[in-house]
Amino acid sequence: MTDDVRTVEWAGDGLRLLDQTVLPGRVEHVVARDVGGLVDAIRRLVVRGAPALGVAGAFGVAVAMLQAEREGWDGAARDAAIARIREARPTAVNLAAGVDRAVPLVAKGVDAVVAAAQALLDEDVRGNRAIGASGADWIAARTPDRPLRVLTHCNAGALATAGWGTALGVVRELHDRGRVEKVYVDETRPLLQGARLTAWELERAGVPYLVQADGAAPSTILRGLVDVAVIGADRIAANGDTANKIGSVGVALACAAAGVPLVVAAPWSTVDLALPSGDGIPIEERPAGEVLAWGGVRTAPDGAAAFNPAFDVTPARLVTALVTETGVLEVAAGATPAHAAALR
Ligand code: MRU
Repeated sequence: MTDDVRTVEWAGDGLRLLDQTVLPGRVEHVVARDVGGLVDAIRRLVVRGAPALGVAGAFGVAVAMLQAEREGWDGAARDAAIARIREARPTAVNLAAGVDRAVPLVAKGVDAVVAAAQALLDEDVRGNRAIGASGADWIAARTPDRPLRVLTHCNAGALATAGWGTALGVVRELHDRGRVEKVYVDETRPLLQGARLTAWELERAGVPYLVQADGAAPSTILRGLVDVAVIGADRIAANGDTANKIGSVGVALACAAAGVPLVVAAPWSTVDLALPSGDGIPIEERPAGEVLAWGGVRTAPDGAAAFNPAFDVTPARLVTALVTETGVLEVAAGATPAHAAALR
């Protein structure tokens, strides 16, 4: 089981992060004690996944406060450093939301900020358990009564959150109920969050899985080998348009063509009601070297340039269900986050 995985943990004088860049080969931690180190860790995906970034952002405010004290910064320098953390990666709304949750407590001191960040961490784990239970209920009620063939993309597990996971939390709950035959794990080019991280988590949890190339996913779905696809999200617009790891749209299109449900599992904090549609979601573009080289060895010819968007946006009409800790919205059928918010 992966319950022992602690992606983000307050270490008293800094933020202890499980270094996801070296998994599955090595289990190592880094401690970010200054803002430069934390921003670098976020950009290099030492810590990654929308909910984990939110928690890291909240603790990051405490990191900035401690550094400001140590180095004699004024309030403006401290606030500029906090803004650097908030903007370290643009797509997952949770990072900015995590920072924004901690900032009002700055005047109360470091301990108050750490307590707020820890509360966010605890809420995330609780929310993921609720997402897992209602996602598994929804899927079980709409799929054949036998162990299911599930497909997932990227990593939306314990490693991407404060614990348990969102999409993988649903998979783990289904597995605990004896309802998983196997999981098709998209390798998730170019940084292999599927092959490295999701496979590592499923291996430890004893869930049967197969890693496949991203390009195999649409065909696996169209061949009738998948009962349900479950993915996470980095930002969900008010109309249900959903940003997630690049390659998610291909999965969604194939699911729609094959009549396979596409389930997006995410905490409500990933919903950005300020954006009417996915057109406004900022899509991170990452360094060319991630696609032009492999393991430090150039694979593309000298002179090749790259287009490396880290995320794509799946239109709401392709999202069968959005599972949050507050329940399930059948988005393609018209139940959008905006409707749900209006009913609250
Ligand atoms: O670039 P990453 O690894 O941070 O991308 C992560 C994803 O796309 C996840 O699917 C998403 O953040 C949901 S995590 C519960």
